[in-house]
Formats: sequence, structure tokens, C-alpha cells
Amino acid sequence: MAMKSWESGLPLELVELATPEPRAREVRVAVHAIGVNPVDGKMRQGGPLRLAARFVRLFRGPRGPVIVGVDFAGVVEAVGAKVTSVAVGARVVGGTIFARGQHGSYADTVVVRADQLTALPDGVPFDVAGALPVAGITAWMALHDYRRLAPGRRALVLGASGGVGQLAIQIAKRVCEAELVVGVCSGKNAALVTELGADLVLDYAAADPLEQAKAHGPFDVIVDSAGGYAAARCRALLARGGRHVMVAADSPLALAQVLVPPFRSRSILAVPTTARLAPLVAAVAAGKVVVRIAERLPLRDAEAAHTKSQTGRMTGKLVLLAR
Ligand SMILES: NC(=O)c1ccc[n+]([C@@H]2O[C@H](COP(=O)([O-])OP(=O)(O)OC[C@H]3O[C@@H](n4cnc5c(N)ncnc54)[C@H](OP(=O)(O)O)[C@@H]3O)[C@@H](O)[C@H]2O)c1
Repeated sequence: MAMKSWESGLPLELVELATPEPRAREVRVAVHAIGVNPVDGKMRQGGPLRLAARFVRLFRGPRGPVIVGVDFAGVVEAVGAKVTSVAVGARVVGGTIFARGQHGSYADTVVVRADQLTALPDGVPFDVAGALPVAGITAWMALHDYRRLAPGRRALVLGASGGVGQLAIQIAKRVCEAELVVGVCSGKNAALVTELGADLVLDYAAADPLEQAKAHGPFDVIVDSAGGYAAARCRALLARGGRHVMVAADSPLALAQVLVPPFRSRSILAVPTTARLAPLVAAVAAGKVVVRIAERLPLRDAEAAHTKSQTGRMTGKLVLLAR
């Protein structure tokens, strides 16, 4: 059973599909929980993301109905002949990769390569884990892979109250132990962002947040998960060797802003890998990072979840339950 949709404007539809067999390096997972991300809705709208997805699908597949979604958590029910990292019955969390010709995660069963998931300790519930992959990996890549945040360094997070921003604030402060973490969000979410670990919260509605941030920089990492902030203005707030990471740039015009020497702005594409998921899960299991869940809905209510997600005003993750 899976939620299909492809043509813009058409509602998501529940369809019955044959249960796939995993190939040699693949794992089949009985899905329990699925995190909803803005990209799931963007794949259904016109625009560059859907165009790219259509192109990939032409060459790589998958054939048949298009299943949206990336995040999932569940239990391994079959493994390919060459898989040694997980066994049948293991609790896992991971993400599908459309570019590999895989179906998405809005389903009761997914098949992915073993290097796209990691084991889940018993103490981390499926709904919490299911909401982690895309948002968590994005924050992790920005703060760890692109510019390693560490004690003595400073981070600025634009969009601090959103799915990515909340995790970025917590990872920056509680995992990387940054000296100063500044979050930008609306005034109504300031208390939440402070609670998540921000040393300072700036209200973007009160005054230009980049002007406000100037007094607290320069920053080693600027994570923009809000979009709409000019890259050149962000770069002006960077410390020597610092990086500006554009999470929410998905138009060619926005992406062109990374092509400015000395190339201190970077775009990002969250790719789920075991190496990125494992430290995130460890941080959640250790209580350093908390995933706030706004609402749990049954998979059949995915359309309602997309309507809520597209408001861009959620202060916690939406989770679909497949079982
Ligand atoms: N490239 C990638 O791989 C990747 C991965 C994940 C997400 N994304 C993209 O990144 C964006 C954010 O994703 P998300 O899951 O965090 O979305 P989200 O949960 O909807 O959060 C968006 C947040 O932006 C805040 N916001 C709106 N206008 C703002 C402004 N002018 N300044 C600062 N904050 C502002 C909102 O907070 P308030 O309510 O407080 O205003 C909201 O909480 C989306 O466009 C998504 O598609 C890209």
C-alpha cells in the first residue's frame, strides 16, 4: 500500500502495490512512521524540483505510480544476500533516494540500500525517528560536513523555529558545543528557540535580522533554512573560513548565488546515509537533541498533512503513521 501522486493538483491516492524483493545490497522495511517534509509537497508542484525528478525517473525509474516521501522508521523484514549491517527484525531509520530510482516512503513498505539507514535503539520511538532524516541530515551536513562547528565558534540559524532550524540550533549548541548560537524566527517562537538552546533569538519581524545579527558575529556557519535572505548579505557576516549554507534555495536564480568567488555560500541536498544518520540517532538517544512532533496522522491523511506543511508555519514535525 502506498500514497501515489504525480500530476500537479491531483490529490494523493492510496494504491495497492506488489511487495518488492530486496536486491543484493538492499533492505526491505515494514514502515511504522514517516516524517513529512516541505520537499514532499514540492515534488507534487510544478517547478525545478519536479522537473529534475521527472528527468531522473525517465532514466532510473521507478516505474509505475510515483510515491512521494523520504523519511521512514520501521522494522527490517527482509535483507539482500550481501547485507551484513542489519538483520531481519532490527528497528531502523532511514531515507529513500529518488535519484537511485527508488519509490518514496509514503508507504507501508520501502526498499532501500542498506547504506541509507541506521539501527534505532529501543529508547527512540518510531515517530520521533521517522521525523529525523531529512531535517536532521540537512542540519548535520551544514554544521558538520560543510564547516565543522566546534567550541569557540559561532552559528547563525535563519528559520530557527522550523523543522531544519530546530535541529540545527540543538546540534550547534548541544552536540557541537558552539560558543554562540543565534536563532532568527518570529517573535511568537522566540521562547521555543531559546528552550532548544539558542543563546540569542532575533525576531525577523521586529527589525532586519541580518542587521541585528551584525553585533554578534562574525559567524563560522550561517544556516539559512528560511530562504529569501540575499547570499551576499549573509557572506558579509562570516568569519574567516566561515560557510553560508543555503538550505531553502531551490530556484536556479537562488542557486546562482553560490557561484560567487571565494565560494563561501553552499547549497545543500540532504542525502540519507548511515554515516550521517548514526550520530543524529545517538544524539537523540542521549537526550541532547529533541524532535518536536506537532501532530501524528494516519498515512491515509497524507493530503491533510501536506496542506498543513505548506503553510510554512509548523513549529514541530508532522508524522504519518503507516501501522
Ligand atoms: N536542500 C535540502 O536538502 C533541504 C532539506 C530540508 C529542507 N529544505 C528546505 O528548507 C526549507 C525549510 O524546511 P523546514 O522543514 O525547516 O520547513 P518548516 O518546518 O516549514 O520551517 C520553515 C520556518 O521558516 C520560518 N520563517 C519563515 N519566514 C522567515 C524569515 N523571514 N526569517 C526567518 N525564519 C522564517 C518559519 O518560522 P516562524 O513561524 O517562526 O516564522 C518556519 O518555522 C524548505 O524550503 C525546505 O524545502 C531543503
